[in-house]
Amino acid sequence: MRHVIESQQFDRKSIDGLFAVADALEKKKDASMKGKIMASLFYEPSTRTRFSFESAMLRLGGNVITTENAKEFSSVSKGETLEDSIRVVNGYVDVIVLRHDEEGSSKRASLVSDVPVINAGDGSGQHPTQALLDLYTIRRELGKIDGLRIAFVGDLKHGRTIRSLSYLLGKYRNITIWFVSPKGLRVGEDIKEYLGRHDVSYSETEDLDAVVPEVDVLYQTRIQKERFKNAKEYSRFKGCYKIDMAVVKRMKRKSIIMHPLPRVDEIATEVDASPKAVYFKQARYGLLIRMALLKLVVGKK
Ligand code: CP
Repeated sequence: MRHVIESQQFDRKSIDGLFAVADALEKKKDASMKGKIMASLFYEPSTRTRFSFESAMLRLGGNVITTENAKEFSSVSKGETLEDSIRVVNGYVDVIVLRHDEEGSSKRASLVSDVPVINAGDGSGQHPTQALLDLYTIRRELGKIDGLRIAFVGDLKHGRTIRSLSYLLGKYRNITIWFVSPKGLRVGEDIKEYLGRHDVSYSETEDLDAVVPEVDVLYQTRIQKERFKNAKEYSRFKGCYKIDMAVVKRMKRKSIIMHPLPRVDEIATEVDASPKAVYFKQARYGLLIRMALLKLVVGKK
């Protein structure tokens, strides 16, 4: 695997291999990126993805160069195209981690890049490394993925993490998905079409209460303020679903709450102390998965 652009690139075998590397990295030090340099090019804000990728590279003995606000602090502000920036950075590094506000930007970057490009989120497109760490979290916390019953909740129109995770779940057996959202924030037709083709049972509803006792995973998402045309449009949906202890008490005994984070107000902080709340653990698992991904794409060059 050269570039990591979308979840569809992965199959069960490659996912199992990646998870095995992540498991091993938790137990044993690894300096296989010594002498390698990673560029993190972030055109959109990030806490988890940027820091975990940078920490991953440093923990593997490599080095990092970075721009956290590429629109302002790189030559894009002077009118340089993404393609030209990627061509130039190619001469300095061994791998590029790219976050961009435009869907398809990582694919564009990969077409002009000799070094691997890793998609760290492209607008409302995909966030494949988040999906891999989400799947890893499910396997670690619940012990298996086949047979999973999961509800995606919130802004499913703009949420790239649920798009990427849906594609990965299509590789597994006997999966049931509920897409819980207001009508105006429904998941894209492309995802539903893909799930249909892969025999994944899914349904759409606005009724979170009815779904809560059914699921192994309640995957809550943020209403993505930055993707709305204006504040009025956003305010129509703000606060539409909130997970609090009343919701948690109605969940199955062995079930978990996930969230890609950042959280705004869609999970009450009182829930954080519940053993079902695994979202901060989920962010920590991201470090292992991103270390494993760097080994996969850079290590074999
Ligand atoms: N989950 C996620 O992508 O978080 P950041 O935006 O902080 O990277």
